[in-house]
Amino acid sequence: MRKFGLVFKLLMIVLTLIILQACLGPDDLTVDETEPLTDLSPNEYLNTAFKDAFPVHYESFLRNMGIGRPPVSKFIPEYEPYLPILFAGFPFEQEYNTTRGHTYAVEDVISIARIGERSIGSCMTCKSSTVTPLLQEFGDDYWAANFRGEILPRMEELASVGASEELGEYGHVSIGCSDCHNPVTMELRITRPSLTNALARQGIDVTEATRNEMRTYVCAQCHVEYYFEPELQKVRFPWDLGNRPEDMYDYFQTIAIEEGFNYDYIHAVSGSPILKAQHPEYELWSYGSHGRAGVSCSDCHMPFERRDDRRKISSHYWVSPLETIQQSCRTCHSDKTEKYIRDRVGEIQERHLNAVHEAQDLTVEAHYYVNRMITAGAPEDRISEAQNFVREAQWYTDIIAAENSDGFHNPQGGMDTLRMASDAANNVLKLATEELLKLNVDLDELRTEISKVKETVLNEEDPFQKHIHATNEFFPKQN
Ligand code: HEC
Ligand code: HEC
Ligand code: HEC
Ligand code: HEC
Repeated sequence: MRKFGLVFKLLMIVLTLIILQACLGPDDLTVDETEPLTDLSPNEYLNTAFKDAFPVHYESFLRNMGIGRPPVSKFIPEYEPYLPILFAGFPFEQEYNTTRGHTYAVEDVISIARIGERSIGSCMTCKSSTVTPLLQEFGDDYWAANFRGEILPRMEELASVGASEELGEYGHVSIGCSDCHNPVTMELRITRPSLTNALARQGIDVTEATRNEMRTYVCAQCHVEYYFEPELQKVRFPWDLGNRPEDMYDYFQTIAIEEGFNYDYIHAVSGSPILKAQHPEYELWSYGSHGRAGVSCSDCHMPFERRDDRRKISSHYWVSPLETIQQSCRTCHSDKTEKYIRDRVGEIQERHLNAVHEAQDLTVEAHYYVNRMITAGAPEDRISEAQNFVREAQWYTDIIAAENSDGFHNPQGGMDTLRMASDAANNVLKLATEELLKLNVDLDELRTEISKVKETVLNEEDPFQKHIHATNEFFPKQN
């Protein structure tokens, strides 16, 4: 009997392990770093090449094509109608759209109006898995190479080897498997040197990263703030002093200037030296409550997806986790209903967007007050003092407005930064008002003219024409 009991116990343990194994998710697919999993070349970059080995993942990936909505302008009244003023004098004034799926990245970068004859290779860096072979071929000449002249023709040539109809003319080399996976072992990998270098300068060796960290780092290759180093036009992340918007601002005020990078553009309205901010999803996440708790991007954006044959895979359909609250959020927040979670996110985002709009309004005013200082002949040193405050206000407004979660990734961090934006903009208004009063400038007239400009921009129906109204006879161009 005792012997039977032992066998029974052992049997139970084995059974439990099998059941656990089945429940724990895609263990049958967990990647063993030492074993080759495919017979692909280590340099493979076409998505179609992965199709036969990973049909279920490939199918999940193809769902991104289902995000078939056309690009939507951010300039429409429901979104951020004053962006054409905030970006006046920079290509972003022409066209700036909301995101869509990864499979559209190449198509979108090719057709966006702000890519011009002088655009450079660096603009392709977060769009295509051909970047790895292009970097191998061009070396550091890749970054400043001409976008249309050198990069695009070469991409088409590389892509013609494996064009795939489902993924459209360019989509087959849009963000793909090889950007995040080693094609042979399928372990997660970093392909963008900008991330490896930025982490190294923070004392982090990315080759030592845990699996959980890699589940975020693969996204941090692209979903981050960056700028182009002056010499080679190389993509660089400004993280040496930390990840917060104020740390990055300190970086731009010190290290970047010492190395010769002063600004992205001179503002057409205020003549201020402006920094253009980009989508800092990783940075905001990193000091929000989920980032600090080690909840990775993939936990929410790539939840387990159960396929017909019982196997679970990590979803490769990168969209709003609100489409999958059950799998994305209730794994941890099981005590909350789906409705509660959806409403909570909605509240956070509504409060956030109101604060973004307020900061944008104030920053717009600041630009026009400085314009009036210039036309009224205020002292140079006061003008440049005001322009530096505008630079600061615009940085803090833009970096939060450009973050794509509408505040969810870090509600408190977003609010703190927007407060810095408002403080800086209020400094401009205070300083400018003092100077304008000394010069007997009619402030009521100024305010009326500002309202008129805003209304004209708002009422212009063609998003491509809006920026034209940012300057006029009363507020002449300053760049
Ligand atoms: C943006 C990055 C990214 C891209 C692009 C990507 N993957 Fe993944 N993939 C991941 C992450 C993150 C995981 C989860 C890995 C983990 O938890 O260790 C994963 C997991 C996997 C796994 C392991 C099993 C699983 O489901 O967790 C396979 C196989 C896989 N991906 C195949 C593919 C294929 C095939 C493509 C292209 C069609 C692709 N991936 C594109 C990020 C990516
Ligand atoms: C190689 C660069 C790159 C990597 C790596 C990358 N992304 Fe993206 N991602 C983009 C770009 C570019 C877009 C916008 C594409 C467009 O609008 O055409 C985007 C869009 C998105 C969107 C918006 C989709 C929509 O419906 O609007 C989500 C969500 C997203 N990415 C999440 C992730 C997550 C999570 C990871 C990591 C697992 C990741 N991305 C890795 C570049 C990247
Ligand atoms: C705790 C869950 C969670 C984590 C962790 C998380 N996100 Fe998100 N993310 C969300 C939610 C919720 C939204 C808002 C979706 C909406 O508005 O419908 C969002 C929005 C986004 C968007 C915009 C999507 C769209 O449809 O426009 C992108 C891009 C994105 N996240 C990328 C990332 C990246 C990159 C990371 C890691 C650095 C990350 N997220 C970490 C939950 C998460
Ligand atoms: C892997 C576990 C995990 C997942 C998945 C997860 N959360 Fe969380 N969530 C946490 C933890 C941990 C905290 C922090 C609790 C604390 O700080 O007290 C948190 C806090 C929150 C908070 C309050 C803090 C804040 O940032 O305002 C909200 C709201 C929230 N989560 C919503 C979501 C939503 C929505 C999703 C899905 C898109 C999600 N969570 C997915 C673990 C998770």
